[in-house]
Amino acid sequence: MIDIRYPIAVLIVATSLWIVYDRNRETAGPIPSSPRPSTTVAQTDTPVPIAGPPSMPAQAIDRATQRASALPPMAHPDDNPATPEKIALGKQLFVDPRLSGSGTMACQGCHYRHLGWTDGKALSPKDNGDLNTRHTPSLYNVGYQTAWYWDGRATSLEGQVLAAWKAQINADPEQVASIVQAVPGYAVQFETVFGGPATPETIVKALAAYLRTTNSDNSPWDRHEMGEAGVVTPDAIAGQALFAGKAGCVACHAPPYYGNSTFYNIGLEHGKETPDPGRFNVTKDEADRSAFKTPSLRSVALSAPYFHDGSAPTLELAIRYMASGGNPDPKKSDLLVDRGLTDTEIFQIGAFLRSLTSREDWDMPEIP
Ligand code: HEC
Ligand code: HEC
Repeated sequence: MIDIRYPIAVLIVATSLWIVYDRNRETAGPIPSSPRPSTTVAQTDTPVPIAGPPSMPAQAIDRATQRASALPPMAHPDDNPATPEKIALGKQLFVDPRLSGSGTMACQGCHYRHLGWTDGKALSPKDNGDLNTRHTPSLYNVGYQTAWYWDGRATSLEGQVLAAWKAQINADPEQVASIVQAVPGYAVQFETVFGGPATPETIVKALAAYLRTTNSDNSPWDRHEMGEAGVVTPDAIAGQALFAGKAGCVACHAPPYYGNSTFYNIGLEHGKETPDPGRFNVTKDEADRSAFKTPSLRSVALSAPYFHDGSAPTLELAIRYMASGGNPDPKKSDLLVDRGLTDTEIFQIGAFLRSLTSREDWDMPEIP
């Protein structure tokens, strides 16, 4: 008989440490230059697979409750089916600075797991030193979207990844592919996964396959909805009622993603000297001027600051802006009006949004 008490005790301690870490995160100081150290729990435990097609990677679900995911199974494109080996390869590439022009900036240079796949900055400098004009978005549930970037100009995740690779980390894909292929530990993985060498196409496919697994679900709120008692506070319950009712948030942030590939002008460009045209650049429709994608609010508490311009430093300020109807821009969505919420109600919506934070395991991969 295997004694399971010890692993369970380790798990409980590790989980409590993570929760304490997580609670303190928002008040923590500057962003650490190295990513969060790995949690060993995921490696020693056998993850419980969630329902989905056979090609889906096994994902850890909440071990205490054994609840299944609140999100539908991920649909991987026919020309880029997922395998555990491909996902593992994509994860290594995501954190490898050799993918960049300078050799010093990885994809995660702006998309850190422990900051909700962002970097905590209002605007992030690129590999070539230029400052981005839009805030780095979270990559949680990015595989469920149908249009990528704040203005939705990318129509496939693979296309988006290729564009980010060139624009954000200043890569010449052909040149980087030969650098990657020259690393024996990569060459052997590309052979196994794709039956060929590292190329711009296979690198992009591995990265995209990995990003289809960076999902946030099975949060305390999901477990509450599935009938588990005592996992969320009364404030979170009151906050959800406001979110779905008086505050009118669900009109745009609907479950299960609490936001997805829809575009609205919420007035943030109002009064700026050179307003960002947003979605208008893609559709050339005046109705889309300065409209931006509705972000998913799953795990939103991790990824301050907020909005496409990074203008809201805290979650409460973002909620307050949304609930007060926003700046008086003539192109602003009619769905955004002053809801007359009290400070307590703003706080309660915050408590609800914090209950949407998932606690999935993530460990830093070793790169060859
Ligand atoms: C220098 C910072 C930076 C780096 C490094 C970076 N990104 Fe991003 N990423 C951004 C910004 C900023 C945006 C939003 C740009 C926009 O909408 O115009 C973005 C958007 C994205 C999106 C779209 C998210 C959405 O919701 O539509 C994906 C996916 C993504 N990046 C993946 C990657 C990958 C893969 C890499 C490495 C090849 C990478 N990023 C490197 C800053 C960065
Ligand atoms: C008209 C549709 C609409 C309504 C109604 C709406 N939102 Fe939003 N929300 C958006 C869009 C679009 C954005 C991103 C816009 C941007 O950055 O320009 C956004 C951004 C946010 C963000 C920032 C997320 C991030 O990652 O940057 C939060 C938080 C948020 N909304 C919460 C709320 C709350 C709470 C309510 C209800 C009081 C609400 N929203 C109502 C469309 C809406």
